[in-house]
Amino acid sequence: PAMRVDVVTIFPDYLAPLDLSLIGKAREDGLLDVRVHDLRDFTHDRHRTVDDTPYGGGAGMVMKPQPWSEALEHVLAQDNPTGAKPRLIVPGPGGQPFTQALARELAQEPWLAFACGRYEGIDERVYDHAREDLGLEVSVVSLGDYVLNGGEVAVLAMVEAVGRLVPGVIGNAESLVEESHEDGLLEYPIYTKPSSWNGRDVPPVLLSGNHGAIAGWRHEQRLARTAARRPDLLHASHAADGRD
Ligand code: ADE
Repeated sequence: PAMRVDVVTIFPDYLAPLDLSLIGKAREDGLLDVRVHDLRDFTHDRHRTVDDTPYGGGAGMVMKPQPWSEALEHVLAQDNPTGAKPRLIVPGPGGQPFTQALARELAQEPWLAFACGRYEGIDERVYDHAREDLGLEVSVVSLGDYVLNGGEVAVLAMVEAVGRLVPGVIGNAESLVEESHEDGLLEYPIYTKPSSWNGRDVPPVLLSGNHGAIAGWRHEQRLARTAARRPDLLHASHAADGRD
């Protein structure tokens, strides 16, 4: 397979959607090798305990280091023809933002491992252990400035965003080029038949057959839409200077 993906979670069922649609097809086609592991399988007590109270006090619970180290060891020990190590991604609201640029970067990796935290998070020593003892590159990555209950939904989003960039997963690679966030501007509005619907007409320029005029209109629409919805993108990039 082009990419292997391991996910460690206390809710393996949460990752069931990875069987569906484009990512499910990519798995069937042997392009993605996705393996989901239950963190509780790496506990040794009767209650399969994965969390405990925080040192220093405070609200909530913290995920214990021991099940995590055994789970990561298990992931690393599984058949691994490349001899490479996975890049470890830990979803969390305190991480670096997940962007299309990061998705592109991760799509280059042969192997990604995701560690889904729940509760207040994972004991900090797990990160140090993964970096210093296991030799893994560890990245904490946030989906956005809001708080989810755990990393599972973030992993679904990241595996979908990364997986579709893996060569072969999307048949028509051209559809990956003209997309929001590929060049710093949002996409232009799109229309299909009929040309008049419910008293609303498709913008006439799109029916004109004038490809230059269409490209110009689309570029203006992208600028206007980006200015209205995401002015931060206009300041962040020089995409607005170019023509499409
Ligand atoms: N886990 C909890 N909140 C999250 C977020 N915003 N992004 C990624 N993982 C999370």
